[in-house]
Amino acid sequence: MYTSSKQKQLFELSKQLLEFPSSNNDLETKKQIDELIEVIVYHEWRYYVLNQPVISDYEYDILFKKLESLEKENPHLLRTNSPTQRVSDDLTESFKTVPHLTAMLSLENSYNGEDLYDYDERVKKLIETDDPDIDIEYCVEPKFDGGTIVLIYENDELVRAATRGNGAQGDEITANAKAIRSIPLRANFSKYGIQKVELRGEVLIRKDLFEKINKSRGKQGEQLFANARNAATGGLRLKDPKQVSERALDAFIYQMGYAINKVGEDVLTQFNKHNEQIELLANLGFKVPKINEERAVCKNISAVIQHCNKWEAKRENYAFEIDGMVVKVNDLEKQDLCGYTSHHPRWAIAFKFKAKQATTKLIAIDYQVGRTGAVTPVARLDPVELAGATISNVTLHNEDFIKEKDIRIGDTVLVERAGDVIPYIVKSMSELRDGTEREVIYPSNCPICETSLEKPKDEAVWRCTNSECEAQIVGKMVHFVSKNAMNIDGFGEAYIDRFYKEGMLKNLADIYRLDYQRISFFEGFGKRSSEKLKLAIEASKENPAYRLLYALGIRHVGRTNSQLLIAEVNKIQELADWTLEQLCELNEIGPIVAQQIIDVFGKPETINLLNELEALGVNCYRLESEKKQEIAADAPLAGKTVVFTGTLVQMKRSEAKQLVVNAGGKSVGSVSSKLNYLVAGEKAGSKLKKAQELGIKILTEQDFLDLIK
Ligand code: IVH
Repeated sequence: MYTSSKQKQLFELSKQLLEFPSSNNDLETKKQIDELIEVIVYHEWRYYVLNQPVISDYEYDILFKKLESLEKENPHLLRTNSPTQRVSDDLTESFKTVPHLTAMLSLENSYNGEDLYDYDERVKKLIETDDPDIDIEYCVEPKFDGGTIVLIYENDELVRAATRGNGAQGDEITANAKAIRSIPLRANFSKYGIQKVELRGEVLIRKDLFEKINKSRGKQGEQLFANARNAATGGLRLKDPKQVSERALDAFIYQMGYAINKVGEDVLTQFNKHNEQIELLANLGFKVPKINEERAVCKNISAVIQHCNKWEAKRENYAFEIDGMVVKVNDLEKQDLCGYTSHHPRWAIAFKFKAKQATTKLIAIDYQVGRTGAVTPVARLDPVELAGATISNVTLHNEDFIKEKDIRIGDTVLVERAGDVIPYIVKSMSELRDGTEREVIYPSNCPICETSLEKPKDEAVWRCTNSECEAQIVGKMVHFVSKNAMNIDGFGEAYIDRFYKEGMLKNLADIYRLDYQRISFFEGFGKRSSEKLKLAIEASKENPAYRLLYALGIRHVGRTNSQLLIAEVNKIQELADWTLEQLCELNEIGPIVAQQIIDVFGKPETINLLNELEALGVNCYRLESEKKQEIAADAPLAGKTVVFTGTLVQMKRSEAKQLVVNAGGKSVGSVSSKLNYLVAGEKAGSKLKKAQELGIKILTEQDFLDLIK
């Protein structure tokens, strides 16, 4: 919508306007107001539609304030389409009902590729092609999960906005729509011979902003929104446009439903394709699904299915909630041939993603004891199908989690499974209780060895302190042989349990002393499987030393830290010679990890175990490939600097810094032009502003976690 030379001109004009004092000559003032409106509209488009601002928020604020004060001093020069008029002072008492220009129908649903192949067949029949080789072209876009909005522009001005309502008429929410900054107040439709047009779109709230809003509502004791959709649809119906503005809503436009020219003729037909209409809207400054990213023109139904599947997999990483894709016949003449039912257009179909949330009954709670003695409550659920998997148990983390969510045995609970994330309980549905539910009584003794549990003061987890507890010993062994540790193929919990019960496994070194002859006589075993096990165990003796260090299961010493530590020594046992200070001097190792190393390697049992393993043939020496530089080179933040600012909510500042170091980067204190990333938490202030001005890459906490993943 803006050529690059126009953009350059507007950018320079902005800089001039920032410097210029306000004039007091009427003609000059009028020119300044016009210019300010033009540059502000441009910057709003860069910011709200493209997400690519070219000036700082601070500069934008100055421009905005200048315009506001000029208008205040010269009310006769105030224009209705001024960006300052987005938020009016009027409170809406109740919403007026207004008719849509064309009926707003629903969509038919499909759930898999087969449904889409069937749909493609039906479309071919509707457009009466018997030629099986003819491909139908489709335009595919996300199915945004927010609130529908219907906009009418007349003579290039936004004159009315309404909700979907019952499809024929909706509530008038013009004042609220004006407070949404990705909705242009003016758009140059007349350039295309369009005098009046009706657009449809979806109002949404970005997922990260939604989290923020909910957090601040929580702090203020206000009721939380169940999801981003409710926050968005609720936002559209707020009585005060100022609050709408604060809710930071966004609007994606996905359809032009009606368009006429000056003499009332239908001009929708001047387009050949749905995609061209959307491109035109993009050119006029509307926020539309980006072509070749969210939106794709697919040459046939197989390409459609591919695009849908790709987006189902990407859904979690997308900034907005989407619950499927909408597949539209791209050619408008063919759309006409398809026509409508009373419920939906036949030229479009929704491809629904698999549900992320479901409700089910919480039947019981089991308590699992881990290798460190930590007791974890696990909810047993009535099995439920969720995003393509059957969920029958889900962690409840710790006692506080159960208390905070007021979870009771017998409750109906809302379970969510998003992408690869492990399923979790969103809430218990207290409104569905019938009085038979039981409060959770947290155990005071280890469910395995009955030792009484302890909870260190600052921790959330109860622990069994008996290091001889069977659960801990077996847990340590399961970790030792696991894929990321010694990677002993085919050796899992079931075998370990069995051999432990047979008295063959008392400590970790016993893994290398197994009597395979005896095992081959165990029920369910045989010569072949015991041979196979022997080969896998023997092979693990040659592992790089960092695997053995990680396999010891020292708290805070994960794979990355194990690699970092091994890079510093010739042999694992040497870690016993290091002092706390020496360990802390290692750039990458923080005090918590260092203290753990000191504690564990200070115990004679650790060195005895390692010596025993070494005598049994297990490698304890650093391999050539484990030397320092090779680990650093492919680390995600290798050679990069990071500054944290604002309040982090997912981790402590110290942990975040540790993560930077683990990922090969350096965390620094101040923002300079050399900085690579600024991670902005909540209420970020001057550092954020400075980084924005310097064009430094800004990350949210989640972006940061994704980056180092
Ligand atoms: S096209 C005649 N495209 O889905 C209906 N709808 O059931 C044409 N929606 O509430 C609708 N994203 O607001 C279309 N890219 C998209 C959409 C979309 C979300 C919503 C729409 C309506 C529902 C239709």
